[in-house]
Amino acid sequence: MARVSMTVNGVRYDQDVEPRLLLVHFIRDSLGLTGTHVGCDTSNCGACTVLLDGQAVKSCTLLAAQVDGAELLTIEGMEQNGQLHPLQEGFWQEHGLQCGFCTPGMILAAKALLDASPDPSEAETVVSQLTRTLVGTGTPVHWLVQISTALLLVLAANTAFADFPRLGSILARDRFLPRVFQFRGDRLAFSSGIVLLTLISALLIVWFSGSVTELIPLYTIGVFVAFTLSQAGMVRHWYARRTERGWRRRALINGFGAVTTGIVAIEVGIAKFSLGAWMVLVLIPLLIALMWAIAQHYREIGDALTLERADTPLPRLAVPHIVVPIARIDRAALAALSYARSISADVTALHIADDQLDAERMRRRWAKREDGIPLVTIESPYRALIPPLLAYLDERERQDPDRPITVVLAEFVPRRFWDYLLHNQTALRLKLRLFFRPNTVVVDVPYHL
Ligand code: FES
Repeated sequence: MARVSMTVNGVRYDQDVEPRLLLVHFIRDSLGLTGTHVGCDTSNCGACTVLLDGQAVKSCTLLAAQVDGAELLTIEGMEQNGQLHPLQEGFWQEHGLQCGFCTPGMILAAKALLDASPDPSEAETVVSQLTRTLVGTGTPVHWLVQISTALLLVLAANTAFADFPRLGSILARDRFLPRVFQFRGDRLAFSSGIVLLTLISALLIVWFSGSVTELIPLYTIGVFVAFTLSQAGMVRHWYARRTERGWRRRALINGFGAVTTGIVAIEVGIAKFSLGAWMVLVLIPLLIALMWAIAQHYREIGDALTLERADTPLPRLAVPHIVVPIARIDRAALAALSYARSISADVTALHIADDQLDAERMRRRWAKREDGIPLVTIESPYRALIPPLLAYLDERERQDPDRPITVVLAEFVPRRFWDYLLHNQTALRLKLRLFFRPNTVVVDVPYHL
């Protein structure tokens, strides 16, 4: 027999114990503190965890004689003055108890972790916390693990940036995404896909305030859905090659993979639905619908544009009416008028005047010109520009519906690109508005300063 003395939950005990008596049995059988359980007896489950001098230990791995003079805390010592410890309260409120058998061990292990790191933050990863606890904060091994983790994550992110644009390019080639995703930029990268992925990633980071905890469900469901789809795709692939030897075995392996990852995807989707997984589950059908709509659109456009014969003759066009809107008689306006005259003899200059005075002044100045181009002035007392112009075009079209209308715009090109902020806003608005008008061609005549 060995004499041991120890403090358990603040009470001092002096007892004789068998030298081979395990601490867990001493706690349960000699002290009657049966909240500490024996789950596995092989040091795996942690149900027997207690705090020994503040450190979490599995009491099935120690002899009672080894802890002579120590201070122990078991689950019974957690409550204070009849109040549950906040950790116990937390487990209870968040339904963390489950069957309750190993919960005391979990609560005590959690207390040890929180004592060592009283203000845990999700900014620090679990890997970092574990490493720090094992090898110490800021030690070379801690740094090594941190840097390796960062490099691995960079590699993982790079995979997405390398492969998503490529996938986007394949989908665009098959007309399921806009064509802009199909082309390589001058840096030999699928720039549009990269830019899109960057924008989506940035949006998610802002939306979820950069919280890894909230982003993980999204990531998990995304990964498992992708695994399931790719495995199912491989089954289809092997089925299409069913004349080859061994296709059944390969299809079976991939089919098994698809089923298992599919079950995980469903399970994660249900469990994490409210934590953000709904977004992926809603987005996937929406994206598929969007891709079908894009493909349908391209089909329709193709049908409308495609020629049945390469030697189809040119369509016959009547000489267009040319309308040149001018704000004043200046060099840019003259360049536009001169260009207009070069493509048709039917050119009209159009001035939208703010008031009668302005219209009169313009007519007087115009009368001095000898190029024979007629001027039409429209008074717009509320200074609107586009509606009177459109009304004039409508009127011209009504008079002669078979002839197209060409609007020639005078636009000067400033020397410095930031000067654009001060000029050309009206021309831009006009172009945008006229672009959607049927039977109308818009020609921009740049005048370089
Ligand atoms: S009883 Fe399972 S670890 Fe001690």
